Amino acid sequence: MAKGMNIPAFGNLQGLKVVYSAVEIAGPESAQLMAEWGADVTWIENVFTGDSMRDTTYVKELERRNQRSLSLNIFSDEGKEVFLKLIETADIFIESSKGPVYEKRGLTDELLWKHNKALVIVHVSGFGQYGVESRVNRAAYDQTAQAFSGYLSQNGTQDQPMIASPYTGDYMTALMVVGSSLAALYRAQKTGVGESIDVAMYEVMLRLGAYYMMDYLNAGITYPRAGARHQNLCGIGVYKCKDGFLSLCLYGAKQNKAILDRIGLSYLWGTDEYPEGTSALWLNGPKAALIEKKLEEYLLTKPVAEVEEDFSKCNIAANQVMSVEELVDHPHYLAREAFVEWETMEGKKCKGPNIFPKFKRNPGQIWRPMPTLGMDTEDILSNLGYSSERIQDLSDQGIVKKSAAPEKG
Ligand code: COA
Repeated sequence: MAKGMNIPAFGNLQGLKVVYSAVEIAGPESAQLMAEWGADVTWIENVFTGDSMRDTTYVKELERRNQRSLSLNIFSDEGKEVFLKLIETADIFIESSKGPVYEKRGLTDELLWKHNKALVIVHVSGFGQYGVESRVNRAAYDQTAQAFSGYLSQNGTQDQPMIASPYTGDYMTALMVVGSSLAALYRAQKTGVGESIDVAMYEVMLRLGAYYMMDYLNAGITYPRAGARHQNLCGIGVYKCKDGFLSLCLYGAKQNKAILDRIGLSYLWGTDEYPEGTSALWLNGPKAALIEKKLEEYLLTKPVAEVEEDFSKCNIAANQVMSVEELVDHPHYLAREAFVEWETMEGKKCKGPNIFPKFKRNPGQIWRPMPTLGMDTEDILSNLGYSSERIQDLSDQGIVKKSAAPEKG
């Protein structure tokens, strides 16, 4: 679909206008989800290289579909004017930068609210808008947030912390931005008064990693990194089978009995150590080492698909660890159309995840591939009331960058 077209009306967010100025994943992916649910999303990119996401191979096509690209020097005097006009009709503005950059450069929340009282503003940064000054101004990516939040120290083996990939901190931040901005919008639409949200990526990961931290905060208990297994329960984690790996989440009385029967330990069930009805097999339990040993031995003799099938019949949550090659053509993925193909601006086929989640009454859509850098600059500015001459003038001064839609083929 070429430029100059109105966004089709679809999805639960039809009519919502989102503007964002951010690079890579954390900020943009939040706008991306909203774009797939029907919002009109304007992606502000710098006039030099554009969003560094453009340097990726294929993922950019997934994470910038349904968007419009406005290439604008947002911090120049004329650029600020364009930006402030743009947000007059926006509902949500999302920016991500090294701390309170917008405030320092004069684009304060108060100034934005002068132009749009009901605007929801989201500031995404590694460490927040305030705090220890030398920290809030730092650059941060996913791993930085995982490291500072204690999330990274909880994953991996005893010898080596490991990052939870790919880019968990970024994608979780994006989800928090979606949730918090729509919460603020709900309020803003009732009161006519906007909100400013300070999303620090490390705090996203702090909240995400708080499960075991609660034991430390309240009872001083710490756990060693458990690697591929659970910190304190038997039968939970990744186990090796004859021909592959099984992800097993053993929990519940019936499930425990079924496993003990299979691994030759039926005699433990209904004893004082493991009374009937035992739903958790604790790692510090009396026969935990024996249960783990027998389970490992049993699984090593069985094909993973067979175990998955057998355990699933007993309501045990067990799944083969699927590789990407295995999942792409899995019948369940095909039945739910988990992947979809669309055409890039250049006319090439691109395959990626379908719209998520599946809304029954107001489904999302892919109406447009990723635009080229500045492809929508002219349209957006002319919609804001700028004449062609003025747009050309701004382009000549390097305040904006415009480009034509690429040739197909
Ligand atoms: N017009 C003019 N200037 C712009 C601009 C625009 N449209 N967009 C960005 N800039 C400026 C920035 O203010 C910055 O200037 P500065 O270094 O003098 O402060 C410069 O261009 C580079 O900006 P940025 O896009 O932030 O790149 P970076 O390489 O310096 O940092 C991050 C990139 C992602 C590390 C940083 O933006 C950051 O920490 N963001 C918050 C957390 C985050 O989102 N991390 C990425 C998760 S995927």
